[in-house]
Amino acid sequence: MTQTADPRHYDFSDRTRYDALMDVVRTRMTVRAFDPGYVVPREHYEMILEAARHAPSGANAQPWHYVIVTDQELKNRIMEYFREEQVVRAKLKMKFPTPDYGGLATAPGLVVVASDFRWVRAFPVLNDGSALDRMYKKAQQAMKPLLGTPDQLSVLDIMCFGPPAKQPYRRWKKNLDEITNWNRFDASHFMTDAQIDEWVTTTRHKAMYRDAGNVD
Ligand SMILES: Cc1cc2nc3c(=O)[nH]c(=O)nc-3n(C[C@H](O)[C@H](O)[C@H](O)COP(=O)(O)O)c2cc1C
Repeated sequence: MTQTADPRHYDFSDRTRYDALMDVVRTRMTVRAFDPGYVVPREHYEMILEAARHAPSGANAQPWHYVIVTDQELKNRIMEYFREEQVVRAKLKMKFPTPDYGGLATAPGLVVVASDFRWVRAFPVLNDGSALDRMYKKAQQAMKPLLGTPDQLSVLDIMCFGPPAKQPYRRWKKNLDEITNWNRFDASHFMTDAQIDEWVTTTRHKAMYRDAGNVD
């Protein structure tokens, strides 16, 4: 299971790590009714968010915040919100098959994932109808005939992989504390528009291209 720290020298014929990952991937499934008696150890929340913390993001902006909801009253109120929405939907006869959202209130673990879309400023997808934005969308369209991708499909990403030419390095990641909130969003985690703009100007290039120890 142990591989060398330098991915240039990985043994790509060793399936041990793949098999361990696939054990998790294959056995994960959606659950809509829970054992309400189970208490999720604090450490498990931290382990899950520690994995989430390492996810890649555009311009390494890490636009995410997680609110861990352990308070039963809060869980009930969140569940009621979805239940009310479901009632409205049913009245509108949208025919969307909806489960019993009561499961939300009895879920032993409940994490609300919040994304700060202002971080879109950190990468060149403007979505503002500008000339640059139109060019970006045109590039997407240009690729479709190359690949024979039907018009109805959107190209989402390009995945590149293989052994690196030189030793890669770990990039800066936010601390777990900065993205974790217990029952209520911690106001000290909020960045103002000016702080985001400042980050884009002064830190983005370092966060994207330097190793973790070299970003202040
Ligand atoms: C982005 C996203 C949104 C989802 N929204 C709902 C939802 O509103 N209600 C629901 O019952 N399931 C929801 N699901 C669960 C999907 O129905 C479920 O993932 C899918 O049926 C595949 O089943 P599996 O997760 O067991 O592989 C959502 C899943 C994803 C990834």
